[in-house]
Amino acid sequence: MRQALPHDSGIKHVQGTAHYIDDIREPDGTLHVAIGQSPIARGRLLSLDLTAVRACPGVVAVLTVADIPGRNDVSPTFGDDPLFADRDISFHGQALFAVVAIERDIARRAARLAKVETEAEAPSITVEHALERAETVLPDYAFGRGDADAAIANAPHRLEGQFRVGGQEHFYLEGQIALAIPGEDGDIFVYSSTQHPTEVQHVVARVLDIPDAYVTCETRRMGGGFGGKESQATQWAVTAALAARVTGRPCKLRLDRDDDFVLTGKRHDFRSDWKVGFDNDGVVTGYHVEHLARCGNSADLSGGVVDRAMFHSDNAYFLPAVHVGSKRLKTNTVSNTAFRGFGGPQGMLAIEHVMDEIAWATGRDPLDVRYANFYGADRNLTPFGMEVEEIDTLHGLVQTLERSSDYRARRQEIAEFNASSPIMKRGLALTPVKFGISFTLVHLNQAGALVHVYQDGSVHLNHGGTEMGQGLYIKVAQVVAEEFGIAMERVRITATTTAKVPNTSPTAASSGSDLNGMAARIAAGAIKRRMTAHAAEAFGVPEAQIEFRDDRVFIGNESLPFAELVKKCVLARVQLSEAGFYKTPKITWDRATATGRPFLYFAYGAACSEVVVDTLTGENQLRRVDILHDVGRSINPAIDIGQIEGGFVQGMGWLTTEELVFDTQGRLLTHAPSTYKIPVASDVPEDFRVALYPNANRESTIYRSKAVGEPPLMLANSVFCALADAIHAVDPTQPVPLDAPATPEAILRACEALRGRPMGQRGGG
Ligand code: MTE
Ligand code: MOS
Repeated sequence: MRQALPHDSGIKHVQGTAHYIDDIREPDGTLHVAIGQSPIARGRLLSLDLTAVRACPGVVAVLTVADIPGRNDVSPTFGDDPLFADRDISFHGQALFAVVAIERDIARRAARLAKVETEAEAPSITVEHALERAETVLPDYAFGRGDADAAIANAPHRLEGQFRVGGQEHFYLEGQIALAIPGEDGDIFVYSSTQHPTEVQHVVARVLDIPDAYVTCETRRMGGGFGGKESQATQWAVTAALAARVTGRPCKLRLDRDDDFVLTGKRHDFRSDWKVGFDNDGVVTGYHVEHLARCGNSADLSGGVVDRAMFHSDNAYFLPAVHVGSKRLKTNTVSNTAFRGFGGPQGMLAIEHVMDEIAWATGRDPLDVRYANFYGADRNLTPFGMEVEEIDTLHGLVQTLERSSDYRARRQEIAEFNASSPIMKRGLALTPVKFGISFTLVHLNQAGALVHVYQDGSVHLNHGGTEMGQGLYIKVAQVVAEEFGIAMERVRITATTTAKVPNTSPTAASSGSDLNGMAARIAAGAIKRRMTAHAAEAFGVPEAQIEFRDDRVFIGNESLPFAELVKKCVLARVQLSEAGFYKTPKITWDRATATGRPFLYFAYGAACSEVVVDTLTGENQLRRVDILHDVGRSINPAIDIGQIEGGFVQGMGWLTTEELVFDTQGRLLTHAPSTYKIPVASDVPEDFRVALYPNANRESTIYRSKAVGEPPLMLANSVFCALADAIHAVDPTQPVPLDAPATPEAILRACEALRGRPMGQRGGG
């Protein structure tokens, strides 16, 4: 394990001295942009009368489709996300126009003065509506092995059901924001809070009809992205850029929090229809699952998101005969998008629920059912044909956690407690995580970095990855410091910009440090090799006897400060700048034939959660959480543990308190913290034990580390399963009718159902 350094901006975050885009001093004459929104969820725009908007004092311009020089399309791929809806309206709140004014408040008030005439149709809001109308954003997709239906039909035991998992609002602390500054010859510079500066650059160019080379996008940091700024920061940056183009002045767009909720996509909610066959020991013989994903009004990233749900439908379990199907359903709700785990959590929770169902049906301990179904040496093929190579890691990690969490003794204790406690019930669950690392779109697995060494021995580091709080910048800086054997203070981390590293992938799929760490290492390595060659020649010492460490360079029996060798290299005309490039090896996934290897490796983890539920109110508390997580050989254990804790708590919010509600007209009713409950510091379990599983990555990733950004979110599955376990104690002869999120209301409903008193039929009783 390497050094546990604090986040490079940690102190600045707390002091308020870290610059976010809204902290950048606005250039003189900066204008502010607000969005005019659709009043209906589905139908046609008949007319748009903007006279009163334009007449509003302080309004400088009103932007409509007519002002777009290039294509009216801000979609990542499929061309189905207009900047402004033209004729067809497909969700409530959809952008119809934008107002540019001298103050943000004026722009927002003026936007409400538009006279919008529409012809409304009944919207599709739910998965069921979309199924009825057979409307999808992308074609259905399936893969599998053997005849799952026959295996299930012939199994000694069969179960089936529908499992629903809710969506999730990203609730990044910094909302969507961009500042666009026009330059000469039509150049445009955009500060954007985006995980994907390259996409912002390219889409600005597409909409403004200028070459990519005229656009620069810079991102120093985001106040959280969580996937919500992978594709969906683009529209706001493009709107600001269009405003800058039309007015010739700097333009800033910062979405109000309520608008941010309404105008940007969320985690996909799923209905997963499942059937399973199993033997007397609870060992699965066949599994059939159909994931019905609510994608919203456009494709956005739903192709990859739902694919990743499919790739995680097995989680850690071998499924001899299996069918994994999916529908990407189109609804008249905002287009759902990336969210930490990128569909993986939905696919994974469904099979964890199935494991619980098997446990309830067989009367076995849920952990034993899980063990019985784990991948093993001769049961190591995933439903998509990739081998699970780290069987020992999976088993070793879960067994270690089983012991360190004292699972068996606590199981006994909880059974005794529940036997003597009619109202308060405790629950316990230990669930594994196996998460595939790599973009499943093969070409995205590439990265670039740019390293300069200056005359004084300080190092300028730039790469294609963006910082959203996850600690990518410090990890990559640690790599560069280690390559040169220099102090961290020498490495200057700089803002991500399309002008330094081009054609980058989004910082997503947890691959930021794997990709950019390698690219930076390659760049630093090339410079170091040139410095070594020069030192060898100048000092007449073989290269093998030259070593960079402790901020010095050791050359045979002599040593000199790093900065001194740098100076000598400059005088000797040695190139001290390098662009590094890396592409992930081994991955070969071919979606059309559903063959090949989508992931370089898997990251593993497991969590054991204990809850107590008040079965008369649904209120509940998380009493203790034990986590063991595999980050390979950690580059920075402090950052990695922070990611594990944060990911877990974010997942816990998704599965317990965060609930999105749309009304029948497609209006989002939960559009502010008053109605949408994310976890806060006091929701973190008091007894929270997080440890890293010491285990070098078998693949040659950067220092044999493993990605950590997303996988820990799914450790929170243990909270959901523990809640179900507690409810199960109400009547151990029945399965628990609990979907996610397990809000207190949902928990109470499940408890009442087990008591034979379905809620809603209790009137007077
Ligand atoms: N951690 C913080 N603090 N803020 C974030 O926005 N995003 C998550 C994860 N951890 C996020 C975070 C998501 S969705 C991803 S894909 C990874 O970080 C991206 O960063 P990485 O690839 O460098 O891990
Ligand atoms: Mo993360 S959902 O891959 O941005």
